[in-house]
Amino acid sequence: MAELVQRYLDQIRAEHADDGDGALADYIPELATVDPDRFGLSLSLADGYIYESGDAAVEFTIQSVSKPFTYALALEHIGADAVDAKIGVEPSGEAFNEISVDERTKIPKNPMINAGAITAASLVPGTGVDDRFERILEFYSACAGRELSVDEDVYASEKATGARNRAIAYMLQSFGVLDGDPDRILDVYFRQCSITVTSTDLARMAATLARGGVDPGHGRRLMHPAVVQRTLSVMVTCGMYDAAGDWVSAVGLPAKSGVGGGIAAVLPGQLGIGVYSPLLDEKGHSVRGVRVCRSLSESLGLHFLSVPRESRSTIRASYDVESGVRVYELHGDLLFAGAERVLRTLERECVDFDVAILEISRVDDIDDAARRMLAGMRESLRRLDKDGYIVDPDAAMADAEVTVHVFATLDEALAAAAQLRASDG
Ligand code: DON
Repeated sequence: MAELVQRYLDQIRAEHADDGDGALADYIPELATVDPDRFGLSLSLADGYIYESGDAAVEFTIQSVSKPFTYALALEHIGADAVDAKIGVEPSGEAFNEISVDERTKIPKNPMINAGAITAASLVPGTGVDDRFERILEFYSACAGRELSVDEDVYASEKATGARNRAIAYMLQSFGVLDGDPDRILDVYFRQCSITVTSTDLARMAATLARGGVDPGHGRRLMHPAVVQRTLSVMVTCGMYDAAGDWVSAVGLPAKSGVGGGIAAVLPGQLGIGVYSPLLDEKGHSVRGVRVCRSLSESLGLHFLSVPRESRSTIRASYDVESGVRVYELHGDLLFAGAERVLRTLERECVDFDVAILEISRVDDIDDAARRMLAGMRESLRRLDKDGYIVDPDAAMADAEVTVHVFATLDEALAAAAQLRASDG
């Protein structure tokens, strides 16, 4: 039944597959050598379950998607006060590589633009470049759930052509923001940007933030909740640079993009999204990445300001009424991630029943994405030689194109199930 979600993902990706707008980043020459057609989309649910579509296994360099993670690492190690003394949290409305500090405080305006990100790299404790970088690599790897490595060619290319970042770093040194040799700090930053990831890695890293700092694969706590809250806050306000307002209005997910073509987006409490498509718009964001995130948010109802957080598990109880008939009582607000969980539970448990009855009378609110998914439940169960009914006394499913049988009471659904089982012999 996970195939229902898979189909949504494939469909949304397919809608954008032919978009050829944008250009490869070429200010780092090695980035201009990648295949412009690559397009990967991954979704990691908060429990670590992964959906992938297209080129989800293709590696690319993380670039600026690294920035929130290094910021989080600095917060984690030296605390918010020490970090705040060096990096602000105000949106700059400027390009990512603006040579600027805040006029009044003389520190970088936020950690998502290069000035703030270079400063964040300088705040990660370590005895030297290698030690500091190892700490960063280890942290990203833990968030991604696998050992990551560096693309040495991109690193060399960026190091050879990084005049603008050098200008930023020396400016920061002159304002007393950077302690230490700017070139050594830049070396850490260039290496951090050259770490290779897949869209699935980004989805997992985003899901670690969605889980409040707990890695969804192993359940290990990697960040304190307060660090995640701060990191997500600056992702909302500054993650998409001078396009942050458009992004928040249209997509509504804390996110970060990179000139390698990646975007990581977070729906707190629920899921992480990773996209890869290297053709960029003039602000340095993946064109298809932005479009596919927008479509996902619209069609799955993911805007973080319209989604009440799920405080309870969606399945309140499940029980067998007679052999072959299992009733699932749902409650709370039923949204995409909750409906996905329900369908996956049905798929896992369907060896134990012939008919599943979803009792949704205690569901407070159900959105279109969840409605569509429940409506597709029967079709999926039929393929497995099973059946599915819904008990919906309040007509919450009324607007759905329903292929599933909907009943007003549990007794009616049970009678239909008994009849079906009798006729199946
Ligand atoms: O600092 C740079 O130029 C790159 N390593 C990262 C820039 C980047 O990804 C900007 N984001 N869209």
